[in-house]
Amino acid sequence: MRCVLLSETLDLRRLFGPALAGIADRLEIVDDDGGVRPDIPLALAWKPAPDSFARYPGLRALCSIGAGADSLLACPGLPSALDIVRVVDPHQAEAMAGFVAWHVIGHQRRFADYATNQRAAAWRRLNPRRPGDVPVGLLGYGHMGRRVGAALAVLGFPVLAWGRTEPTTVDPGDPAARFHGAAGLDAMLSRSEVLVNLLPLTAETSGILDAGLFRRMRPGAYLVQVGRGEHLAETDLIAALDDGHLAGAALDVFATEPLPAHHPFWRHPGITLTPHEACEAGPEAVASTLLATSRALREGRRPPDAIDRARGY
Ligand code: OXD
Repeated sequence: MRCVLLSETLDLRRLFGPALAGIADRLEIVDDDGGVRPDIPLALAWKPAPDSFARYPGLRALCSIGAGADSLLACPGLPSALDIVRVVDPHQAEAMAGFVAWHVIGHQRRFADYATNQRAAAWRRLNPRRPGDVPVGLLGYGHMGRRVGAALAVLGFPVLAWGRTEPTTVDPGDPAARFHGAAGLDAMLSRSEVLVNLLPLTAETSGILDAGLFRRMRPGAYLVQVGRGEHLAETDLIAALDDGHLAGAALDVFATEPLPAHHPFWRHPGITLTPHEACEAGPEAVASTLLATSRALREGRRPPDAIDRARGY
């Protein structure tokens, strides 16, 4: 089976070359040469050119290069019958868990205050609170959220987890107190000191981190934003930090990336910023997702990690 690389912004061959070479005996990887190819059923894609779907009319599945499929769902002219497949990489979830834990501990142990004190050569013990006194709410509790929750629970943080709908099954080993729906969101926000956004970007979740939500968070709460930039109402966050309602925020994702040099987030004292690097899917996971998808297409099955397009994740 053939798989074409489709991206207007990234050189997918360079990014995934060695991993794709490792599966070349099972999947022929083809570069997009601008021509029309009705014979190719599978694509690895990130922001493909708008005319891609007209030039590849035989496509049956489109694989993302990461955990999120929002950039593919947003493509103009996306055929409705196409399966959109995301990468589910345990190492990516593990890296996310480490990243979130770093910020949660940083808030609990007051790393920013130690840094300030060091600059002033001030030997000042801060008597940090115990993890058990700092409940962490997770917005979104899928593959990534569960790994984050498990890591935080091992460190002693009480974990609360919110999802859109009521969980159908509850794993007896699940360390999180579960919440769902609008009432559940209010309850979780009022009980959490740190809020971690891990939601997928959909029409329903776009802009969810706004003034209304910040008001429902505890005074002195801390935000860890690792979802998508579009989840956040940026000026509302600055207002909530400036009026002291929120203690701080760690931001890894932005509506405009790279974040423009003049953006106020760069210099805000309450914000810790990283360049969308909390975690990424490994090239090997991308290659094995392509193989599993091509196998499913050959056998006439739905690809295992195809998203529910109506739901958006
Ligand atoms: C992803 C990401 O979606 O890195 O995997 O943002």
